[in-house]
Amino acid sequence: MNKCKVLCVMGTRPEAIKMAPLVLELRKRPEIDCRVCVTAQHREMLDMVLDLFGITPDYDLNIMTPSQTLCTIAARVISGMEGVLRDFAPDVTLVHGDTTTTAAGALAAFYCGALVGHVEAGLRTYDRRSPYPEEVNRMMAGAICELHFAPTENNRQNLLRENIREGITVTGNTVIDALKYTVRDDFAFRTAAAADAVASGRRIVLLTAHRRENFGRPHDNIFEAARQLALRFPDMVILYPVHPNPALNRRAHEMLDGIENIVLTKPLDTDEMHNLMARSTLILTDSGGLQEEGPALGKPVLVLRRETERPEAVAAGTVKISGTETDDIVRDASALLTDPVAYAKMARAVNPYGDGRACERIADAILFHFGLRDTAPADFTGR
Ligand code: UD1
Ligand code: UDP
Repeated sequence: MNKCKVLCVMGTRPEAIKMAPLVLELRKRPEIDCRVCVTAQHREMLDMVLDLFGITPDYDLNIMTPSQTLCTIAARVISGMEGVLRDFAPDVTLVHGDTTTTAAGALAAFYCGALVGHVEAGLRTYDRRSPYPEEVNRMMAGAICELHFAPTENNRQNLLRENIREGITVTGNTVIDALKYTVRDDFAFRTAAAADAVASGRRIVLLTAHRRENFGRPHDNIFEAARQLALRFPDMVILYPVHPNPALNRRAHEMLDGIENIVLTKPLDTDEMHNLMARSTLILTDSGGLQEEGPALGKPVLVLRRETERPEAVAAGTVKISGTETDDIVRDASALLTDPVAYAKMARAVNPYGDGRACERIADAILFHFGLRDTAPADFTGR
C-alpha cells in the first residue's frame, strides 16, 4: 500500500477542537496522507479553531447560512462531500461526534463507497429527543462506521449493546489532547472581558448555553438563575460567551444585559476559553465539551440539562446534573459558592475522559487496520 489516505471531516467548533490535535498527529505520520474537509456548518466559530491550530482546510464546503435548518445542513453536506470524496478517494474518512455534519458526512462517505471511522463513538443518553438531534446523529454514525474510536470503556459497552462488535478501540477523548495544547500557567488573555474578569480577583463563574432542546423556557430558566445568582453573590462575576445563534443571542442579551456582574461576550478563542476555565471557580453549562474539560481542569461543572451522555464524571463526583429549573440551578450553585467542604469535594482533577494520548491511539489503530503497523494500540483504561 502507498500512503494511507485519511480524510478528516469537521463542521462545527467542538468537532474542530477535538479533531485538530488528531489532524496534527496524523500529519506527523509518514505512512499517512491526511487531508481536511470542513463543511463550515459553523463559519466564524470553526475558523477561530482552525487558526489556533494552524490548520488550512484542503476542502471547504462553506455551507453555513443564518438560522439554517437541520435539513438544509444535511442536504448541503451530502451533496458537497460527493465531489471531495471523488477527488481525494480516501482509504478512510473520519467524522467526529454527534453533529449533523457528522451524520451526513458519514452517510456521504458510505454512499461513495468509503470506509468510515467515528471519533468519539459510543456516547448515548438513550433518549432520542435529548440531546436533539445529537443522540440520533450518533446512532446513525455508529451504524454507518466500521472503525469506532470510543473515548471510554463505558462508550465501548454502549456500542456492544447495539451489536457493534468489530473495529472498536478505546482511545480516551481527543479533547484532553487539545487541553495539553492550549492551557498555560502564564497565559495572557487578549479579550477584555476575560482579562478584566481575571484581573478583578473576583470569583469567576463561567456560563455557556446553546442546546436546541433548551431553546425557549429552559434557556429562560437558566438566564433567570444566572440573574438571581449574580444578585446573591456580588463578589463573583458570571462570564457568558454567547453562541452566535441569532435568536438565542437576542434572548440572552434581553434577559442579562445591565446586571453589573454578568458579562456577555462574543465566543472566545479556544485557548482563551480553556485558560479561563482553568481560572474559574465554577462552570454552568449545557455544552458537551465543557463536561469533559471541567473535570480535567479540576473545576466543578453543573450540567444545565436533564441528562448526560457523559456519565463518567458524574460517577466520579465532579459533575452534577442540575437540570433546567431555575430553583435547582440556584440551589446547586449557591451550595458550591458558600460551602467550602462541598466545593472541595467536587473540585478535584479527575480524568475519566482521557490521558492526552487519544490521537496517538487513533493514528496507531488506523495504521494497524491497514496493515501498516504490527500491533493494535493498547486501550485507554482510565487508570
Ligand atoms: C451545532 C450542533 C451541536 C453543537 C453545536 C456546537 C447540530 C445539529 N448541532 O449546533 O451539536 O453542540 O453546533 O456549538 O449539528 N452561527 C454563526 N456563526 C458560527 C456558528 C453558528 O453565526 O460560527 C449561527 C448561524 O446563524 C447558524 C446558527 O448559529 O445558523 C446555528 O448553528 P447550527 O450549526 O445550525 O447549530 P448549533 O446550535 O450551533
Ligand atoms: N468554547 C470555545 N469558546 C467559547 C465557548 C466554548 O472555544 O466561547 C469551547 C469549549 O471549551 C469546548 C467547546 O467549545 O471545547 C464546546 O463546544 P460547544 O459548547 O459549542 O459544543 P458542544 O460541546 O456542546 O457540542
